[in-house]
Formats: sequence, C-alpha cells, structure tokens
Amino acid sequence: MKKKRIAIFASGNGSNAENIIRYFQTDDREAEVALVVCNRQDAKVLQRAESLGVPAIVVPKRDFNNETFMTGLMRDNGIDFIVLAGFLLMIPDFLISLYPEKIVNIHPSLLPKYGGKGMYGEHVHEAVVAAGEKESGITIHIVDENCDGGRIVFQAKTIVEPTDTPDDVATKVHALEYLHFPRVIDEMLSGKL
Ligand code: GAR
Repeated sequence: MKKKRIAIFASGNGSNAENIIRYFQTDDREAEVALVVCNRQDAKVLQRAESLGVPAIVVPKRDFNNETFMTGLMRDNGIDFIVLAGFLLMIPDFLISLYPEKIVNIHPSLLPKYGGKGMYGEHVHEAVVAAGEKESGITIHIVDENCDGGRIVFQAKTIVEPTDTPDDVATKVHALEYLHFPRVIDEMLSGKL
C-alpha cells in the first residue's frame, strides 16, 4: 500500500519535527514525512531535516499566503496530511479547505487555557508559572479557522511544582510532546483517532 505523505510546518528549533521524522523512519510505518516547510531561513529545523534526508523548503510569509504557490507545493509533493510543530504563521483558509480535518497542531498548554494570539513557546510557560497553575500539559488539535480552537484530539498533563521556572515547565511539556505527538499522528492517519 502506498505510504501517506506528511508535510511538517515548523518555524524554529524543530525538535518535535525531528522526533516525528525519526518515528516515521523506523519500522514499517504506513506514512512518511515527505516535506518540511519553514517560514524562516535561519531556523534550526532546516538542518535537522537535511541531516535526516527529508526535503525542506523555506517559504516566506508572502508565498505561504499565496494560494497558487501553496496548493501547487502541496500537490507537487503529494501531501496527504499536514502537521504543525512549532509553526507560528496562521494557516490560510484555502489550506484548511484543501485539508479538512487533515491539519493537526500541537499546543504547549491545556487548551482552552493559555491559547490564542501571542501564546506560543516560552510565552505560554511564563504565563502558566505567573498564574501559579498546579498543572500544565499539551493539546493536540485539528486546525480550523479559529486560532487554537479546533477539535481537541488528545491532551496530556504534567504537574507544575511551586518552585518550577518557565524553563522547567517547558522541559516537562517537551517530554510529553516527544512521547505522544508521533503516535497520535499515526493513529489519526490510520483512522483510530
Ligand atoms: C513546542 O513546544 C510546541 O508545542 C510549541 O512550540 C514548541 C516548538 O518546539 N508550539 C506553539 O507554541 C504553537 N502555538 P520545537 O521547535 O523544538 O518543536
């Protein structure tokens, strides 16, 4: 059977992208990461993709929002499913229409808490610590036209200790991301989730 082809969209470090690529490169997976799309030329995710043998392309914001360019890129690469892993641009409506229920995002908090505009990466963990939260976690959700508002597919929690810094929370949240995100993508692709 033909493997499903995943595109990962990422903007920065790309540790989740690397973890997902490695997961789908092992054993007899039914899908593969076929392309990494990044909006920043200096992002570390580009080197990670290259060293793992996955084609990566830099797509500046203007091209990303260009329907002809992006639909062509997805079609030419035979993309079936899109994973946002630390991707900071809004997804244009034409892509959401082209991939209904087939774009998934990971957010580093227990949505609906600490979501929405401006809430990404360390800003989320700083807000969680400032509010004295006793727990945080990850949310994996479908991407629709509402920022961080699509159907939740999976959540996992971690304890926040009173002494935890935002960096400590980030470390705990990243561990949850590495543990769950590839498997959840796999289960979505095989219709189990
Ligand atoms: C991850 O923690 C991800 O949940 C978060 O950015 C980090 C990217 O790390 N995403 C968001 O905040 C999206 N709103 P990585 O580049 O090392 O995978």
